[in-house]
Formats: sequence, C-alpha cells, structure tokens
Amino acid sequence: MDANTVRTKHAELLFPCVANYYQEPIVLTEGKGCCVRDADGREYLDFFGGILTLGLGHTHPDVTRRVQEQAARLVHTSTLYPTEGIVRVAERLAAITPGALKKSFFTTSGTEADETATLLARLYTGTQEIIVLRHGYAGRSLQALAITGHSTWRLIPSQVTGIKHALSPYCYRCPLGLEYPTCEVKCAQDLEELIRTETTGRPAAFMAEPIQGVGGFITPPKEYFEIAVGIVRQYGGVFICDEVQTGFGRLGDHWCGIEHWGVEPEIMTFAKSIANGFPVGATIATEEVANAFTGLTISTFGGNPISMAATEATLEVMERENTPKRSAERGRQLRGHLDVFKETYPFIGDVRGKGLMQAIELVEDRRTKVPAPKRTLQLMEAAREHGLLLGKGGLYGNVIRIAPSMLVTSSEVDEAARRLALALADVR
Ligand SMILES: Cc1ncc(COP(=O)(O)O)c(C=O)c1O
Repeated sequence: MDANTVRTKHAELLFPCVANYYQEPIVLTEGKGCCVRDADGREYLDFFGGILTLGLGHTHPDVTRRVQEQAARLVHTSTLYPTEGIVRVAERLAAITPGALKKSFFTTSGTEADETATLLARLYTGTQEIIVLRHGYAGRSLQALAITGHSTWRLIPSQVTGIKHALSPYCYRCPLGLEYPTCEVKCAQDLEELIRTETTGRPAAFMAEPIQGVGGFITPPKEYFEIAVGIVRQYGGVFICDEVQTGFGRLGDHWCGIEHWGVEPEIMTFAKSIANGFPVGATIATEEVANAFTGLTISTFGGNPISMAATEATLEVMERENTPKRSAERGRQLRGHLDVFKETYPFIGDVRGKGLMQAIELVEDRRTKVPAPKRTLQLMEAAREHGLLLGKGGLYGNVIRIAPSMLVTSSEVDEAARRLALALADVR
C-alpha cells in the first residue's frame, strides 16, 4: 500500500478522533534508534519517540530478541498462573523505585495503571476523594477524563464524583499571578484550603506527575512536592506519583522523576517507556498499602509473558546503559541549544524541563505571553521539512515537546538542534 492509500483509508476507516500530526500525516514504516523512515523513503530524526515511549529508541535489538524468543515459547497464561517473568519484573521495579515501594500490579496502559492506583488509594484509606492538578493528564477512561485538567481532552462533563483539581505549579503562567521564589510556593500551600473547602477533609490521595507531560512539560519548583504531599498526608491521604512520562531516568540522575523533589510516594504508576513500546502499565505500592487490595479483580493481559519479556529486557538495557546518567548529560546538551534559541527568538517565551524532557513554549510576544498555537503548528511542519519530528502539548497547543530516546548520541542532539534552528528561522 502506498502512503496516500494509507492516509485515505485511515481517514475513511478510523474514528476521526484518531488524529495524526502534520497536514500530510507521515506513514512510518521502519525505525532504528532515533531514526525513522516513511513510506516515501524519507528519513527523520525522531525526537518525540512515540510520545516518550521509546526510551531506548526504535527496535532495540535486545528487546526485539527477547520478545521473539518468548513468543516462540509461551505467549499467554493470564494472571491465574504465576510466571517467572512477572516476578522478575516486579523484583526489578521494587529495586529501582524509591522508598518502600514493593508490590506491583500489571496492566496494559497508563490509564489502567492510574485507575488501579486511585482504586487502591480508596481501598487503603476507606475514603473517596482524589486531588489532582489542573493541566494534568491521566488517560482516556471515564475517571481519567475527569482527572485530566484540560477542557480540550475532557470531551464530556465529568462522570466521576470526588475529583478535585488543585492549582498547577505552572510558574510561567502562575495561576496566582506571583513570581517564584517570592511566591513562597503558594500554589502548594493552597492544597490546605482546597482540602478544607472542597472535600470532606479526608482525601484518599493526591495524584500528580513530577513534570506535567501533556500539560507542556510544566516543571514544579523544587519545594513543591514536599509542601503539597506534606499537607495531603496531614489530612490522611496518600501520594500517587504518576511516572508514566517521567520514569526510568528520563529526567536525568535518578530512576524516577519524583526523586528530584525528595518525596517518597506510597503508590507509583508507570507505562510508556517501561517496555520500550510494548503495551505495559504498572502500579507499584508499599506493602502496607498494596495489601489493602484484597477483592476480586483481573487484568487478562496484565503481566503477560510477552509484556514481561519486553519489560525485563528494557529495564536490563536501561540499567546497563545507565539511562539516568545519559539523560542528564544529553539533556544538558539539548538544553544548552534551546537556551540559545530563546535568546535569539522573542517568540520563545519559556524553555523548561529536566534531562531529556525539554519544552519550548511559543508566545505572540514575551510581555503579554499570549499563546502562539499557529506558529507552533508551523514550527512542527517546518521541522518535519528539515527531517526532525517533535511533539506538541500544553493547554493552548503552543508548547513544543522534545524527548528523544535516552540512548540518543551527542551528534544526534547537535544534528536535531541544527534542524530545529533551520525550522525556527523559517517561522520567525
Ligand atoms: C502522565 C500520564 N498518565 C497517564 C497516561 C495514560 O496512558 P495511556 O495512554 O497508556 O493510557 C498518559 C498518556 O499520555 C500520561 O502522559
């Protein structure tokens, strides 16, 4: 099938919500590391990696081999039978996550990982309300739509009660109109007022991403989580950290994003890069919290032998290659380029992120900070013309998200920056 036929059939046969990037969507056919090729034979540097999912880049040979071997031996058992694969992955997760996180539950997506986490928090505390953040994202179940703090993603009015949205630590567009650090992180302090006025005073949990991914890589100040989580715990709630985008070294220096903020969650969720593109979600909790989940429940495909082979191989390569160190080093290099671009182009309002999770927020002008979604789309198209694939995000659709494979080389980072520079010049 040629590329045009694929595009035509896609429009005809898929739900219209299965939206593609670019005016003329790219039909990808092959990938290796950071490089992808399309059906027309064009090559690109992929600096969004399937939405931060290809932590090791496309088709890592170790992951491919392990999945092929497993597929030839045993594909599916259901969780009615224990397997060596599921316990080995659980053991690895317990070893690399912070604090006393120990027991895992496996599913097939980030949505389900977050669903499992919020259900567990309710079972453990015996209370119902979940506090989340504006600009956050949790997936596509009815509860996830209610949690997601973006009108653009919610689609229907919230069907789930007891979800309360706290202020986002979005310093560039501070919801309180303050400046860090003189603000004294009031957005975090406000959680106390929220709990006292918007809830029964007994929340089950506070769930948040260390860096708000879909929100446009909103990066909270260093004091944020200690204050916020401290308040929630005072009122009996647990902290669920959603590491779906930030996990496994992505932010540099540590395995989990939240370690940058010095807080140990009772529950943590993973998906995306955990199996380098294979569909795996994981929820890990402390023994005490996990033991509250005693009723009947099942995820037919959760922890399936193929998924666990992919996960184990992925985590093994991440440890061997030291992805936290690589993300820190390559992230610094990437950030250096982005900071220079900010000095050159007044339509870049903000550069933010950590490690290999970096964003630029585009504005009409720096004084008014009016979002520039049209120029953002133009920049995406221009970058594509120069052979660079990027991500988009933010409530206003004006944030370029950059998150390549954590095995990206130094020369690939420089080459991507060279192509981005050409694209920025095109849309100036
Ligand atoms: C932070 C976060 N949580 C949860 C999800 C949902 O994951 P999935 O699309 O695998 O259901 C996403 C997806 O983008 C996410 O970014």
